[in-house]
Amino acid sequence: MILSLKILATLALSLAVLSSRACETDDDCSLNGLCASNTCICDPGWTSPDCGRLDFYPATRNTGYNWTDVHLPSYYAARGNSSWGGQIIQDRQDKTLFHMILEHFPRGCGLSGWRPFSVIARAESRTGPAGPYHHKQELFGAFRHNSATVWSPADEKYLMYTIGADTELPTTCRSFKWANNVSVSTAPDIRGPWSPFAPVLKGTNPSAWPLWTPENPTPEIALALEDNVIYQAPTFFSAPWEGYEKIKSQPWNTSDYSPTWTEDPFMWRDKRGHWHILAHWMIDITERNEKFPRVGAHLFSRTLTGNWTFKEQEAYNTTVEWTDGGRTDYLRRERPKLFFSGDGEVTPLYFSSGVQEFEGGGKSYTVVQPLGRGAGEFETGLGF
Ligand SMILES: *[C@@H]1O[C@H](CO)[C@@H](O)[C@H](O)[C@H]1NC(C)=O
Ligand SMILES: *[C@@H]1O[C@H](CO)[C@@H](O)[C@H](O)[C@H]1NC(C)=O
Ligand SMILES: *[C@@H]1O[C@H](CO)[C@@H](O)[C@H](O)[C@H]1NC(C)=O
Ligand SMILES: *[C@@H]1O[C@H](CO)[C@@H](O)[C@H](O)[C@H]1NC(C)=O
Ligand SMILES: *[C@@H]1O[C@H](CO)[C@@H](O)[C@H](O)[C@H]1NC(C)=O
Ligand SMILES: *[C@@H]1O[C@H](CO)[C@@H](O)[C@H](O)[C@H]1NC(C)=O
Repeated sequence: MILSLKILATLALSLAVLSSRACETDDDCSLNGLCASNTCICDPGWTSPDCGRLDFYPATRNTGYNWTDVHLPSYYAARGNSSWGGQIIQDRQDKTLFHMILEHFPRGCGLSGWRPFSVIARAESRTGPAGPYHHKQELFGAFRHNSATVWSPADEKYLMYTIGADTELPTTCRSFKWANNVSVSTAPDIRGPWSPFAPVLKGTNPSAWPLWTPENPTPEIALALEDNVIYQAPTFFSAPWEGYEKIKSQPWNTSDYSPTWTEDPFMWRDKRGHWHILAHWMIDITERNEKFPRVGAHLFSRTLTGNWTFKEQEAYNTTVEWTDGGRTDYLRRERPKLFFSGDGEVTPLYFSSGVQEFEGGGKSYTVVQPLGRGAGEFETGLGF
């Protein structure tokens, strides 16, 4: 009895020490905040004791890009204008105009027909960064997918990395399989003209970030691919297949069905120069062969080639809460992407992703969710 009390007391003491020592360094705050007096002070857009969770605010129904009910005579099935995530881009001249560069599946085949039906489209919102976005332009025809679009200050151009291959489309909903190549196209304006694609590497799921800073205006570019492997090139336009040098492979198990199995990396550098990746974490498939709910992982490192930390915990899950008080638990929530403030703080303001409902009949769409108070302040500042 006395012994167990002693153990309990020791336990209580160590727990107290643990909780009062919630952090020792900023790494304990996921590099998304500062450790002050053993407590994490999270940067805007992040929350939880270790700042490892995105600070989601309720989303507005029928925003994002959700035109799954469209039916056109040329469509082969009833999954409408399904889509699978998109990058929000604020127009460089017209600050109240927002673009979304979308993975779009015309022909009504939905997500399961992504290869070969996927195209890259541009949609616009005049009602704020959350949308709703309206289809404006097909930028690239089938097959193009997994676009990652960033502004490169050194080149004064948008860079768009995608996978794809020119292909003949079948006349019914079918799915093809082939090895993927990543290529890059550029444009001075988001509407185009876009240059012909130049091959980059074999692989899939690209995510790019220019190394440019005001102090070091370099044209170098960092590129993350599947399994969070990181490449670097002297310029976006480097010799096909070899110009991008592999600078980091992750030490953890990246095999399918391992607890550290991910896809869809989205990589960025924060205001302190630290690096982050959001990824679709496939832990649920590993554990139970299910696609929900713990689907978002956050990885971070002080340097691109340094020791990346993969905390095996949710940065986001499949639940979206709505401004009307309702909530949707999705079957899938993948292709995470952030829209950042352009004020140098690199504050994540909106999170976009591809989603699929349990009862959606294979339809998929793109949801945009605000993060933290910053999203509302950004909208107010623009007069929305
Ligand atoms: C998406 O569109 C479908 C079809 O119009 C609709 O049933 C669904 O409620 C929409 N979802 C959201 C979150 O807007
Ligand atoms: C649906 O997609 C088609 C084909 O890309 C496009 O022409 C049409 O404008 C889209 N409709 C809506 C409502 O987004
Ligand atoms: C990828 O590139 C290789 C090398 O050029 C080529 O053989 C292959 O056909 C390409 N794959 C696709 C799907 O275009
Ligand atoms: C990696 O994970 C896979 C799938 O769980 C497993 O089969 C394999 O043994 C693991 N490899 C190592 C080196 O742990
Ligand atoms: C997702 O996380 C939120 C916040 O912790 C929680 O309220 C919600 O129940 C979770 N969703 C699922 C499906 O577990
Ligand atoms: C990475 O970790 C190793 C082993 O813990 C250490 O020797 C090395 O200095 C670390 N590198 C960086 C860049 O933090």
